[in-house]
Amino acid sequence: MRITPSILNADFTNLAGEIGRIGSADAVHVDVMDNHFVPNLTIGLPVVESIRKATDMMLDIHLMIEDPDRWAPEYAEAGAESVTFHVEAAAAPVRLARELRRLGARASMALKPATPIEAYADMLDEVDMVLLMTVEPGFGGQKFLDLVLPKIRRTRELLGSRQIWLQVDGGVSLETIERCAEAGADTFVAGSAVYNAADPDAMVNRLREAAVA
Ligand code: DX5
Ligand code: ZN
Repeated sequence: MRITPSILNADFTNLAGEIGRIGSADAVHVDVMDNHFVPNLTIGLPVVESIRKATDMMLDIHLMIEDPDRWAPEYAEAGAESVTFHVEAAAAPVRLARELRRLGARASMALKPATPIEAYADMLDEVDMVLLMTVEPGFGGQKFLDLVLPKIRRTRELLGSRQIWLQVDGGVSLETIERCAEAGADTFVAGSAVYNAADPDAMVNRLREAAVA
């Protein structure tokens, strides 16, 4: 069970310090938004390059952008260990996944809540992680969508014995993480649950314990 906190709800003027508050986490989840694929704008490549210099933690980049075919490889080249693109935005997802792996990153594909996993079942061998959105992408602090639970189950079945991580993102908290784990998720993004906590690192450990329970 891996906990990968999102820094979307952190203090963006002090990212190095904020990342230092989640030392027990398995990776830092960075949400890149372009105000086209989603109706919100966050940070891009220059900030990720700075984060790379500021921490040795695994960087888990979640690209919520148009034209990931053009931009995702740049994040791998910037030293991110994992780069996630949305299948809804990728023109050539297989080619893109192969390119990310060629550049030494883990390749990951993300699906919005209403996007069926079955449409992408044939390319599972091309990725190292599947991210299932459990809210509509764009903002932190939204309510977890229970309607995604059956898709988590189906994805776990489709993965079979493959060593592919199954990540959920959106509304994950002490209240919802058990449901996700029980359905088959093994990697959990939590943004507001972690950074709204008085002690973010303690919350990371509590979330991991809840996922294992
Ligand atoms: C939403 C982002 C998430 C977000 C999660 O579009 O992809 O990573 O930061 O935040 P919470 O955990 O607050 O839903
Ligand atoms: Zn995310």
